[in-house]
Amino acid sequence: MAISKDLLDDLRRRRETAMLGGGRDKIDDRHARGLLSARERLEALFAADTFQEFGLHARHQTRHFGMEGKDLPGDAVVTGIGFVDGRPVAAFSQDFTVAGGSLGRVHAGKICDVMDYAMRGGMPIVGFNDSGGARIQEGVDSLSGYGQVFYRNVLASGVVPQVAVISGSCAGGAAYSPALMDFIIMTRGSGNMFICGPEVIRAATGQVTTMDEIGSAMAHASVSGNIHFVAEDDMHAGAIVRDLLSYLPSNNMADPPHDLSAHITLADDPGLDALVPEDPRIPVDVKRVIERIADGGRYLEVQALFAPNIVCCFTRIAGIVTGIVANQPAVKAGTLDIDASDKAARFIRFCNVFNIPIVTLVDVPGFLPGVNQERHGIIRHGAKMLFAYGAATVPKITVILRKAYGGAYLAMCSRDMGADLVYAWPSAEIAVMGAEGAVNILYRRDLKDAEDPVAKRQELAAEYRREFANPYVSAGKLFVHDVIEPSRTRAAIALGLRSLLSKRETRPAKKHGNIPL
Ligand code: HXC
Repeated sequence: MAISKDLLDDLRRRRETAMLGGGRDKIDDRHARGLLSARERLEALFAADTFQEFGLHARHQTRHFGMEGKDLPGDAVVTGIGFVDGRPVAAFSQDFTVAGGSLGRVHAGKICDVMDYAMRGGMPIVGFNDSGGARIQEGVDSLSGYGQVFYRNVLASGVVPQVAVISGSCAGGAAYSPALMDFIIMTRGSGNMFICGPEVIRAATGQVTTMDEIGSAMAHASVSGNIHFVAEDDMHAGAIVRDLLSYLPSNNMADPPHDLSAHITLADDPGLDALVPEDPRIPVDVKRVIERIADGGRYLEVQALFAPNIVCCFTRIAGIVTGIVANQPAVKAGTLDIDASDKAARFIRFCNVFNIPIVTLVDVPGFLPGVNQERHGIIRHGAKMLFAYGAATVPKITVILRKAYGGAYLAMCSRDMGADLVYAWPSAEIAVMGAEGAVNILYRRDLKDAEDPVAKRQELAAEYRREFANPYVSAGKLFVHDVIEPSRTRAAIALGLRSLLSKRETRPAKKHGNIPL
């Protein structure tokens, strides 16, 4: 006995037709424009022959606006599960060749199904977005569908990692599901994302703009801060997703994929000493420091083009997956401003919720002074960093490289903000403010009366530096665990991370804290 050939032929025919989506011509047209089809995007993500599709035979049930009898294969979205680096991942990919990838009731139901599955099984969700938005013919059913997807994005937040890829159009409310996810990758050229397009903006406000200015990958990567990674094309987007997932646990109950087989060595890295110029006015490029600390110099930077005065990245240190937050003195002198605070706070919260230890590299002269900053709420935004660090219960290791002044010293995870370990380089200056600023305030009258105010200021500033702007005052008061030679940094961090891997910290039960937003 074997299953009837007719039945198998029928199944194969149905599958073949459905898998062509909007048809061979439309797929060929996409290829000609350098775009992959919805299914090919999933193939680029998953290991070969591991994708199990859900809902290939789904059909819309709309009768309005000539939809009766109209075939929309898969209802314009491909959903299912597959494996990435040996771990299961759930995914959906909107099919623009079918009704512009528009979202109707069944389409939304398929996305919700695969999200529910991901949450039950504890696996990441990856969504390729390429859609004209709410399917106009389905009216409120489409809006309801979006609502159901948004609701699940919120339920899944902090439970399983959620990654959105903006592969094509993402208009109107369609931008909000990606915005509710953890990371957004956008494809340069083909991806665009906006709430009101240039036409609507012109009609409503008279402002003339372009899609490049408001909705392109570069606009979102460098100006709005809405996205985290820019991909050159569909294949590159898939590669970024895989790279990102390689640092993440499958869910909030699991540890990240550490490689604990790595042998921890306390060997010095003399190269780090050479990185620090003697003159404190010459900035250190903190990315060079990160390269020396990271295993094999490899790290994945998040939001590299947005608020580059702070660097956030995932890496491994002696095999342990780590999130690094580092001031970048090469940009805006490494000051904390509104955008940098938002960027770092969100990254810290992601690391915390997914059990990723945080290493903080400090070289910060303070919060950025300016009317704009004050009027746009630097108090509220800067407070996010204090809140995020204070709330984080994952292992937290802080290394003070050079400047650590004032409120920014606290906002970069000082011992009082809950750092488990604080190291300082001998070049560290931990103080309320820089020497010149302090002397101007403390000795205003003396400087005014001095015969040679310039020489007097220099003399007083030197005295202030000797007294305060060094790591030994803080080390003497136990705010710093040890003053280390830069060459010992990687080893000290690695040892600390390994010793803190079982860290458990419980807090009073509550629904959630009230982070300033
Ligand atoms: C139904 C749609 C559709 C939609 C596109 N199509 N968008 N069908 N509902 N929302 C169909 C088109 O009719 C066309 O069908 C096919 O998809 C391809 O569309 P084109 O316009 O030919 O493609 P292109 O020139 O590439 O333009 C793509 C586009 C444009 C920029 C996305 O289609 C567009 O502006 N669509 C409408 C966008 C929109 O305003 N959506 C509603 C947003 S409001 P045929 O049969 O000709 O191939 C929203 C509310 C959500 O989403 C609320 C949640 C909170």
